[in-house]
Amino acid sequence: MTIKPIRSVRLDPMTADEYPAWEAHAASGYAQSQVQAGHWAAETALEQAWQDTRRLLPLGLATPDQHVWVARDAESGAAVGTLWIAIRRQGGRTEAYIYDVEVDPEHQGGGYGRAIMEAGAAAARGLGAEVVALNVFGFNDRAYNLYKSLGYVVANRHMRLELQPQRPDRASTTVAAAVPAVEVRSTVGPIL
Ligand SMILES: CC(C)(COP(=O)(O)OP(=O)(O)OC[C@H]1O[C@@H](n2cnc3c(N)ncnc32)[C@H](O)[C@@H]1OP(=O)(O)O)[C@@H](O)C(=O)NCCC(=O)NCCS
Repeated sequence: MTIKPIRSVRLDPMTADEYPAWEAHAASGYAQSQVQAGHWAAETALEQAWQDTRRLLPLGLATPDQHVWVARDAESGAAVGTLWIAIRRQGGRTEAYIYDVEVDPEHQGGGYGRAIMEAGAAAARGLGAEVVALNVFGFNDRAYNLYKSLGYVVANRHMRLELQPQRPDRASTTVAAAVPAVEVRSTVGPIL
């Protein structure tokens, strides 16, 4: 059994020089994840990811309440990853939402993910957050295990079912059979 070193990182605000490469990398990683999760079509994923990124970070690093950091090993000062969080009011609470956390590929599996998440939680507390929230894609066991081991609990379960294309010659009968003959009135509002 290999013993993992206990890592410690400091979070430095990202600089304007570092930002463009990080933004492009984050948008492309987000697009890939959305495609892998089955949410988005591959052809339009990158464009959609850029739209979302620019909507969330319209002023880049100067966007209010958005914090993008470079994580550096506390001893050597070497850059090992990045962290992006937003501080926002959500349901009457101040929440730190983690939009992106990444350990550079050559450092993954070496304890830096844990260290960045712990440093991020401390920074979030310092910024007034009462809770930290994030989304983890269903395929990302590594990230899920990390969050679970840090004490995160599952707040939602978002599910999907891929539907087989309907055969055109069967379309009318299949739909008629599938619609129940009762009127269903929902008292629940839209899911936002
Ligand atoms: C997810 C990520 C941030 C984790 O950082 P890391 O430095 O690789 O992880 P650590 O070495 O700190 O491991 C922390 C925990 O993660 C889990 N973990 C790490 N590697 C794992 C693997 N290969 N499989 C399953 N779980 C794993 C374990 O629970 C581990 O706990 P341990 O330290 O008790 O073994 C990193 O792998 C990464 O950047 N991945 C690509 C980007 C990404 O997926 N970001 C998350 C988006 S939600």
